[in-house]
Amino acid sequence: MSYSIGLAGGIGSGKSTVAALFKECGVTVIDSDAISHQLTQPGGDAIAAICAAFGDKYIDASGALDRQKMRQLVFSDPAAKQRLEGILHPLIRAQMLAQAKAASTSPYMLMVVPLLFEAGYHELVQRTLVVDCAEATQVARAMQRSGLAEQEIRDIMAQQILRAERLRRADDIIQNDGDLQSLRQQVERSHQRYLALSAGSD
Ligand SMILES: Nc1ncnc2c1ncn2[C@@H]1O[C@H](COP(=O)(O)OP(=O)(O)OP(=O)(O)O)[C@@H](O)[C@H]1O
Ligand SMILES: [Mg+2]
Repeated sequence: MSYSIGLAGGIGSGKSTVAALFKECGVTVIDSDAISHQLTQPGGDAIAAICAAFGDKYIDASGALDRQKMRQLVFSDPAAKQRLEGILHPLIRAQMLAQAKAASTSPYMLMVVPLLFEAGYHELVQRTLVVDCAEATQVARAMQRSGLAEQEIRDIMAQQILRAERLRRADDIIQNDGDLQSLRQQVERSHQRYLALSAGSD
């Protein structure tokens, strides 16, 4: 498989924005959230297994996963969370690898995986890149993007790896406390570096 970079960051830190900037540089982006969404759409590959494990009350009238109901369940029930992840993660991983294999023209790939370290995906990639900003900024941006309340964002943050631990484990860090211009400059610098690293790894 070709050279790949795993992009992580807390909720609202700027992962999707950074991924879009890498895409503008011509890099293939593989998005684990989008894959997870597809797997749990009507007719998606995870639906039958979720129905068997949790019952059809977690499947909505359209045949998709009832996200809100499932979110409520896994928030209060760690065993259920583990069961759901046991179904989804192998499917997500297989799909990411399949997309990576198909993306033969990109010099390297960017895999956007919010739970890069928590779920062990960092083992699939050659390097890890973390996008980070101050927690207050993160909460404000996440609220603006998702429409969730501050406490809901903080509950999600509490379930994610600690910020300090994420930063400690990152090979590279992009600081997203400034404006979009500063973000773009950092992405361009990282992109040049990854081009060199991926060329050297052949
Ligand atoms: N440097 C910036 N300046 C201003 N707004 C920004 C900046 N970076 C990101 N944003 C905005 O903040 C919000 C969150 O950014 P983004 O969606 O990229 O984060 P994310 O990490 O993908 O979030 P999620 O975890 O919810 O998927 C978006 O509305 C985005 O446009
Ligand atoms: Mg995002």
